[in-house]
Amino acid sequence: MFRDKWCGELRDTSAGSNVNLAGWVFRRRDHGGLIFVDLRDRSGIVQVVFSPDVSVEAHGLAHDLRSEFVISVQGEVRCRPEGTVNTDIATGRVEIYASKLVVLNESAPLPFTLEDAAEASEMLRLKHRYLDMRRPELQRNFIIRHKAAKGVRDYLDENGFLEIETPMLTKSTPEGARDYLVPSRLNPGNFYALPQSPQIFKQILMVAGMERYFQIVKCFRDEDLRSDRQPEFTQIDIEMSFTDQSEVLELVEGMIGRVFSDVLDISLEKKFEVLTYKDAMERFGSDKPDVRFGMELTDMADLAKASSFKVFLDAIESGGRVKAILGKGMAGLSRKDVDMLTEDAKAFGAKGLAWIKVKGGFESPIAKFFTEEIMKQMAERVKAEEGDMILFVADTDSVVHNVLGRMRLDLAKKLNLIPEGFKFLWVTGFPLLEWNDDEKRYAAMHHPFTSPTDEGIAKMLQMPDEVFGAKSESPELSSLTAKAYDLVLNGYEVGGGSIRIHRKEIQRRMFSLLGISDEEANEKFGFLLDALQYGAPPHGGIALGLDRLVMLMVGAASIREVIAFPKTQKASCVMSGAPSVVDQKQLRELYIKLNLPL
Ligand code: AMO
Ligand code: AMP
Repeated sequence: MFRDKWCGELRDTSAGSNVNLAGWVFRRRDHGGLIFVDLRDRSGIVQVVFSPDVSVEAHGLAHDLRSEFVISVQGEVRCRPEGTVNTDIATGRVEIYASKLVVLNESAPLPFTLEDAAEASEMLRLKHRYLDMRRPELQRNFIIRHKAAKGVRDYLDENGFLEIETPMLTKSTPEGARDYLVPSRLNPGNFYALPQSPQIFKQILMVAGMERYFQIVKCFRDEDLRSDRQPEFTQIDIEMSFTDQSEVLELVEGMIGRVFSDVLDISLEKKFEVLTYKDAMERFGSDKPDVRFGMELTDMADLAKASSFKVFLDAIESGGRVKAILGKGMAGLSRKDVDMLTEDAKAFGAKGLAWIKVKGGFESPIAKFFTEEIMKQMAERVKAEEGDMILFVADTDSVVHNVLGRMRLDLAKKLNLIPEGFKFLWVTGFPLLEWNDDEKRYAAMHHPFTSPTDEGIAKMLQMPDEVFGAKSESPELSSLTAKAYDLVLNGYEVGGGSIRIHRKEIQRRMFSLLGISDEEANEKFGFLLDALQYGAPPHGGIALGLDRLVMLMVGAASIREVIAFPKTQKASCVMSGAPSVVDQKQLRELYIKLNLPL
């Protein structure tokens, strides 16, 4: 037997008992007479003392221990003498006097020390991920991830959901990213796609009468990576029959509430705040706003109209917007700082950044275009006080929202205005469609199986056919809204779902609206359309990004901190070396000939 106790569980109540421990040498201090070793296993760290008075043999062996040697130790738990108690660790009141030491394995010197791993380059850490993962911080992340997944499974099981697996070798699913393709040896020239999500399969499971499905499932998307995106990631995928939006939201609120209380001992509000897409954009300039702080986007068009500032007047004239945010305490910014802010705004897509400082009156390069009274009203509207600054952007609706939404976040971070804590939010009432001006066609904002609202369906069925193939944006189509919802946590989209279209003719209509011909629809989604004609029940669901959720639960800055073997910006695994070239023989078997650029 290697161990009968875990390092991290020892307390002074065990004093006097004999224990067997096993783990890694975390630190070793040789004080001549006594050798101290911090022994680490997954549960924590305990101090082991090697004294020649207890065992000459163990003490002799301990001389040669180095960091990350694997050892087992037998010894007596003793209370530490007064003054040597370590309050930083849970086991700090005790130490183990070793009577026996077995070196189970040695370790080469590490490429980085576990204690300073945070300073080591991430590439080095990922290359030696097994060392990185020995760090208590990372171990905690994976314990929390495990508990969260378990909480989800338990909750969904209690609510009548069945966990059903769906294929990994499948047909392309339309979640909007590029597919990862897998060649089929038995069907030369044919490819499977790894699922971007199990969307179509989970809907078909509803047609199959499974009623309530879930799966904690890997999804694959070949898209540009960011700190909250990985090419393979995990969804908590849920679908239910005979349901509506409010039931789905309630189910998820219960699930999240349960996970947060079980795993983090945090009790969340029972119901999450709901914002419409339109309000989210108007007030926060984002469809996934962080609502833990104010600094809301404020419409200034009416006041801007009363100015003689051409930039503002032109924007309004051409159907655009003039909006502002409050820069709390920012009136002290230097000319250079303000120039840098302007550069930020331009990098986000604005043509410029207009500003007014409240500094014993109003100070601004554009003050000359406004009356004192108008500037006073502007200040009042954003609640600017002495020492504050008002920042304006004038442009189209989408530029103004995007730029001010991003500046709101950036500035709040810099000014330390964002309180700690978890603030969940539902965003609902999304537009059904999104106009793609480059391709001159509409795309589904969520995915093409998302149901329009009931009024939307009625409208869609009445629209003349010409509207559908239109090559220009139509106000009628743009105003349709969907029965779709996103779950947002602290400014991150952690989930998204919808009530689906369950009637074949509406699904067909939807495809034609998206410029997908009957032929193409049959080729790509024929199996869904087929299934829909055999008594498909009304259904809907959602998928939550487990990695993102856990990232936020543990307070990590990147999703990579909660994925055991994550990929880099170039979608490669530096530890295993994937992706890599393969043998000619393998390629031949697949009838694949490479045609690489030189
Ligand atoms: P959606 O595409 O919104 O919906 O994905 C659901 C959630 O998955 C997470 N997510 C990601 N996490 C990490 N890396 C990625 N590359 C990544 N992409 C998405 C997000 C997102 O909210 N089938 C639909 C769901 C449905 O309609 O039921 C779907 O996949 O947290
Ligand atoms: P200009 O008249 O171009 O010199 O601009 C005067 C001020 O207005 C400068 O501070 C610009 O950064 C700012 N500005 C220019 N275009 C915009 C815009 N679209 N929205 C907000 N401010 C702008």
